[in-house]
Amino acid sequence: MRKLNKKIVSICVACVGAMVLITGCPMSEKSPMGFRLPEGSIWKGKTAFVDLGCIRCHSVVDEDLMPETTVPREIHVVLGGEVTRVKTYGQLVTSIINPSHVIKAQYREKFTDAEGKSLMPDFTSDMTVDQMIDIAEFLQARYEVVIPEHAYSEYGYGP
Ligand code: HEC
Repeated sequence: MRKLNKKIVSICVACVGAMVLITGCPMSEKSPMGFRLPEGSIWKGKTAFVDLGCIRCHSVVDEDLMPETTVPREIHVVLGGEVTRVKTYGQLVTSIINPSHVIKAQYREKFTDAEGKSLMPDFTSDMTVDQMIDIAEFLQARYEVVIPEHAYSEYGYGP
């Protein structure tokens, strides 16, 4: 009886394994797959970035046409510049409308409250979907992907 059970278990494991191989990983309902924004406007994104007050806490690399803030920034996080991986708009949109979801290690200590939440305010009620799309387009164009030296290893990219 025991032996039979073991056999059944190993057959099941093999079946599940085969299914994963054939269909890819089992997909979660929250998978970003299929998420696609319509094309936005960089220029409108820049305007929305200023209008919504993102410049209170952010400057953008190589963006000199942005107005100066009237009061000195208490929080200053620079956006754009060189990154080692492509910033997908999924990641960008998430960091804009759900900032506490992923916080870069370098910001975790300085820019989070006692509960570990981001100090970035919630913009979900203030921002239109249009503005969100345009800001994602504007910011994405400001990131430059650089592949660091010795980046390739058998495990893929470096840090
Ligand atoms: C009161 C300050 C404040 C304002 C206003 C603000 N942010 Fe932020 N933002 C932060 C802080 C602090 C972080 C770093 C912590 C984090 O990732 O949430 C951040 C992070 C980000 C990041 C991720 C940066 C990275 O390299 O991981 C993006 C993108 C971003 N903000 C976009 C925006 C946009 C767009 C607006 C305007 C709609 C905005 N922020 C308004 C404080 C602010």
